[in-house]
Amino acid sequence: MRLYITTAFITLIVLIGIIGYQQQFGLDSTLPTDEEQGGLNDQIVINFSHIVAENTPKGQTAIKFAELLEQKTDGRIRVVIYPNGMLYNDNNELNALENGDVEMIAPSFSKMTNTLPTWSVLDLPYLFNTEEDVERVLAGPFGEQLLNQLGRFNIKGLAFWNNGFKQILTSGKPILASGDFKGLKVRAMPSKVLQQQFTLFQATPVATSFDELYTELEKKELNAQENTISNIYSKGFYKLQKNLTITNHGILGYAVMMNEDFYNSLPTDLQEKVIEAINEATAWNFEHSKQMNDKDLESLQLLSDVHINTLSNEEQQRWQKLFKPIYDDYRKQISETFLEEIEKEINNN
Ligand code: LMR
Repeated sequence: MRLYITTAFITLIVLIGIIGYQQQFGLDSTLPTDEEQGGLNDQIVINFSHIVAENTPKGQTAIKFAELLEQKTDGRIRVVIYPNGMLYNDNNELNALENGDVEMIAPSFSKMTNTLPTWSVLDLPYLFNTEEDVERVLAGPFGEQLLNQLGRFNIKGLAFWNNGFKQILTSGKPILASGDFKGLKVRAMPSKVLQQQFTLFQATPVATSFDELYTELEKKELNAQENTISNIYSKGFYKLQKNLTITNHGILGYAVMMNEDFYNSLPTDLQEKVIEAINEATAWNFEHSKQMNDKDLESLQLLSDVHINTLSNEEQQRWQKLFKPIYDDYRKQISETFLEEIEKEINNN
């Protein structure tokens, strides 16, 4: 018994000694003690959620941005990317950003048009003729004007990124003329302008969310969709819809956005690094997005069961005339001056 009490007493004295030593020298056994670990604890993490595959213009540019920012800040900021909608999807990513549950997202601008109707100007069919026009508008003062509109939603608009021109994919017969759409169910993003394209062609637009699209195609719920080659290829939509028509009738691009409270909480030097990294990543995006779509088109061309057609010039001109009411509605219901401004910007080369 005496031995037991003596042992317990000595253990207690040793423990008190250890705690006293740790307090005196600022050591806490629950925290890492080596300097590198301490540095990691100070690291700021940006969680960046998006819905597409990594091998796409958005997926690759997000990776580029993460690398650039980590380099520029010597690892003080780490960007963790969640692709393929593994964190949030079309229906909840914007709320997650506004609430600060995630620091960055990059939805297509079409998906922002219910919140910001003026943005649907970018969805107008056959507004843009070349990727250079797209870059001049999105990376120039017009794009900046659009991004500034995000301020009222606690969102810092960082940049627009490009994916490319959209094409038409069908499961039944190929689309060679506007009349081929009659009676089809066509998946289009939730933008009034995009939906109107298909009602004008007597089809029914369906706003399926991107993460559910493959399953809906498997269930044969949809006959057609508009999308870029990189999305069609990376998500395997061509396995279920095998007729591709090159129409280049509209563009798909992204608004890269950060939670504004989070951005404002960064020290000024880190804010500057974020802007530098985003600008470099954006330039990289415009340089590489077309190449990525071209490469995926080549891969599709090698598949014997995928049939690729190109819309004739005459039919394209016919579509442009048929789409005129969409422009008229934009002018009347949303903004005539905005449309004039963008047209001026496009022709200003
Ligand atoms: C779509 O829903 O088809 C696109 O917005 C997906 C994307 O983000 O490229």
